[in-house]
Amino acid sequence: MVLTGAGISAESGLRTFRAVEGLWEDHRIEDVATPEGYQRDRQLVHDFYNQRRAAAAAAKPNAAHLALAEFEAAFAGEFLLVTQNVDDLHARAGSKRVLAMHGQLNRMHCDNCGQVTDAPPVCRPDMRCQHCQAGLLRPHVVWFGEMPLFMEEISAALADCNLFIAIGTSGQVYPAAGFVRIAAAAGAHCIEANLEASAVAAGFDEQRLGLATEIVPQILAEIA
Ligand code: APR
Repeated sequence: MVLTGAGISAESGLRTFRAVEGLWEDHRIEDVATPEGYQRDRQLVHDFYNQRRAAAAAAKPNAAHLALAEFEAAFAGEFLLVTQNVDDLHARAGSKRVLAMHGQLNRMHCDNCGQVTDAPPVCRPDMRCQHCQAGLLRPHVVWFGEMPLFMEEISAALADCNLFIAIGTSGQVYPAAGFVRIAAAAGAHCIEANLEASAVAAGFDEQRLGLATEIVPQILAEIA
């Protein structure tokens, strides 16, 4: 099982959250990534995600995304890719089975009936749900205080995991930051690939420090 974070998309030019010029440096999480912030100012939230959707559309998958897609295609065993990222670079790199546990920039969902639809490049706060005609469409992104997606499938995979690799995540946001502890308890060998040690580095058997585009292909070549 592989878990990716914003660091795998950094070399594609997409900003991470907690680096020096990270997204959380010039946006307050409570304003753009919480249900309360959305209720307070829907336009501000749509502007934030419209900017990120445009940046993601302009970005290209990098060697780390591509190596994961190639590995999945060639690997005869059980392989699951879970991402915290909401960009679509894994899918555009060719990964087939990707669980986007924090949602996706190119999807919207109705704040009344929950129906998920494709997001146009620019979304506005007055977009009505075509399914129930009652609700408004909001970014299909999991905000702080909301439940991540696919948790049952992820928990089952962790309990059955013999190799867990975390790539480009700072280990500061749960439940994703707790996955290494569950995988290790299930007997998995755990590898962390990052520019620097994450907040949960102690839970890993191995640390591989460096750029994702360099270390991810190396790690996968050792396993294939
Ligand atoms: N190669 C490898 N790792 C990198 C690279 C790179 N080129 N660039 C940055 N990193 C690492 C950083 O060292 C850091 O540990 O990527 C990590 C990015 O951490 P965050 O910015 O905190 O992103 P992430 O861990 O994905 O955040 C998790 O927090 O804000 C929420 O929902 C949001 O999904 C996000 C979640």
